[in-house]
Amino acid sequence: MFDSKQFEKDAAEIMARYDQKKAATLPLLHLVQEKIGYIPPEGEQWVSEKVGVAIVHIREVVSFYTMFRTKAIGKHHIQVCTNLPCVLRGAEQVMAYLKERLGIDAGQTTPDGKFTLSSVECLCACEIAPMCQVNDRYIGPLDRAAVDKLLQDCV
Ligand code: FES
Repeated sequence: MFDSKQFEKDAAEIMARYDQKKAATLPLLHLVQEKIGYIPPEGEQWVSEKVGVAIVHIREVVSFYTMFRTKAIGKHHIQVCTNLPCVLRGAEQVMAYLKERLGIDAGQTTPDGKFTLSSVECLCACEIAPMCQVNDRYIGPLDRAAVDKLLQDCV
């Protein structure tokens, strides 16, 4: 159940940074996601009311940016970059190995809720291609040994 009481104080601090309420849209959406793990429809409604924008526009923002989630995910979110520079350095093989190790496809979560695997666009870390982001951490360059270590570190 969505309960904004736990982050009203943080929301007030965010709102105070901006002259126009609408400018707080992205930080408030990040706040909801940080606090409850994803952005449910009730979270979109809450942000809509805070910034005074129709909920349809909030939904457009949430659906446009891939960093926003509308469903709960695993404890460790592995986002593999599958843009060209990473692909040229082996991202497809890395993704295939991750799928094999985790027993899931991209867009899925392991049954124990530990891992969610995603394919994402360039994360602006091409210098460590092929790479991935695990929660807030960038890891690369990846090969099978690096994937093994990454998964071991998450256990
Ligand atoms: S293409 Fe993968 S980080 Fe830029």
